[in-house]
Amino acid sequence: MGELLDGLQAHAERLAGTPLPALIAADPARASDFALRCGPIYANFARQRYDRAALDALFSIAERADLADAMRRLLEGEQVNPTEGRAALHGALRGTAAGSAFALAARAQALSAQLRMRELVESLAASPVTDVISIGIGGSDLGPRLIVDALARPDARFRVHFLSNMDGNAARRVLATLDPRRTAAVMISKTFGTQETLLNGAIVRDWLGDDTRLYAVSTNAERVAGFGIPPERTLPMWDWVGGRYSLWSAVGFPIALALGMDGFEALLEGAAALDAHALHAPLRANLPVWHALTAVWNRNALHAATQAVLPYDDRLRLLPSYLQQLVMESLGKSVRLDGSDIDLHTVPVWWGGAGTDTQHSFFQALHQGTQVVPADFIGVVRADHPYAANHAALLANLLAQTEALANGRDSDDPHRRYPGNRPSTLLLLDALTPQALGMLIALYEHSVYLQSVLWGINAFDQFGVELGKQLADRLLPALRGEREADDPVTRALLAELRGSAT
Ligand code: F6P
Repeated sequence: MGELLDGLQAHAERLAGTPLPALIAADPARASDFALRCGPIYANFARQRYDRAALDALFSIAERADLADAMRRLLEGEQVNPTEGRAALHGALRGTAAGSAFALAARAQALSAQLRMRELVESLAASPVTDVISIGIGGSDLGPRLIVDALARPDARFRVHFLSNMDGNAARRVLATLDPRRTAAVMISKTFGTQETLLNGAIVRDWLGDDTRLYAVSTNAERVAGFGIPPERTLPMWDWVGGRYSLWSAVGFPIALALGMDGFEALLEGAAALDAHALHAPLRANLPVWHALTAVWNRNALHAATQAVLPYDDRLRLLPSYLQQLVMESLGKSVRLDGSDIDLHTVPVWWGGAGTDTQHSFFQALHQGTQVVPADFIGVVRADHPYAANHAALLANLLAQTEALANGRDSDDPHRRYPGNRPSTLLLLDALTPQALGMLIALYEHSVYLQSVLWGINAFDQFGVELGKQLADRLLPALRGEREADDPVTRALLAELRGSAT
């Protein structure tokens, strides 16, 4: 795949002496030509450091990599995760963009789980329960947490709380404010073998006293039953959904509780519309394709080591953490699908935070630091609050930052000089509706997958996280003093923890 991207370097070198303001002055029409709309999402790539010739090269790579067929393979349920022998059919959780027999069968399973989820939401709504604790971690936490934080209304039927970290302080903090008689809990774990979720689930089960208000979402019905949660309070998951792609499944139960089932279904509709767009739009008019090509350009032609994501909407403050798992767990790989070493860089470090808070923390480095950090800026046109002056100022800041980063400003005083030439993409949502948020997340999912195709890596496994978990299991008895650690440094650290000198 390295060869596929070879030609890009020549374009980067050709453009090295042409900073963004010059690129735009030479071709002002790119302001609108490098923009596209997909339903409620408007995307503008005019402030990326490519010109039309470099874009032609990128789109010819997209054709040679056959990204259109890659989308079909994903959505039809082909085995896009060969190291685990699995499909990645999150598309079937939200619609029927592709009509293979496997995808349609998966769709039928998803719909029947949605029906059961609706029943459980209704039965809880008819009970005295006011609060629900969602217990899960990683893909079984970050998506629902993001959506609930972004879209739950203050007058929602349930308040939903999230418990992920195994640190007992997290459990203590969540439980401190709640009344066990009016609280239900749901343990979400694809494997039902995740240490954090089992530890926290046991704490909450004891705290509830009455375990009839404990629910589960998992692929592993046996382990769930072993934990004491019966099938009538268990919602299914399937191997063909990856954890970090699973918020559209019953993993979204907390979303349905916070937004109502109709709100959850609207989220799915938005994602389904993006699936259809990703599958059918020609490459040049295809938003995930533009986004993925831009990511590869910034990483492999401009050698950017990190990528910022900067939502200018407080409701999206958790988007950076959500995307960190989606992007870095998917693309943090250094071997190709065939197991050979990859000869170019894959995922950069993704990080970010909500504007305008971040303007007052790390933007100094974005403007004048030695590393260029490409950024995705995300804005929302409709405010959904009554403070018009704040919203106008927020949007003015959003536009100002993208302009300042791109154009910079010269000065005789080196300390007051802004180098500019710092690329960004602007994504504007008409309004932060469940549909629009569903589309935005699906856009990132598909961009991630297409990047993996361009790099020739597997976006759907995550073996990198296993070693640390295995070592932690082995070190638990050592921490209790039942055995010694093998590693000399760990031995010294254990001695320190036990408060005794070696
Ligand atoms: O951290 C690795 C991981 O396997 C993630 O991929 C996953 O989202 C998370 O753990 C939680 O896994 P589970 O849903 O099985 O509890």
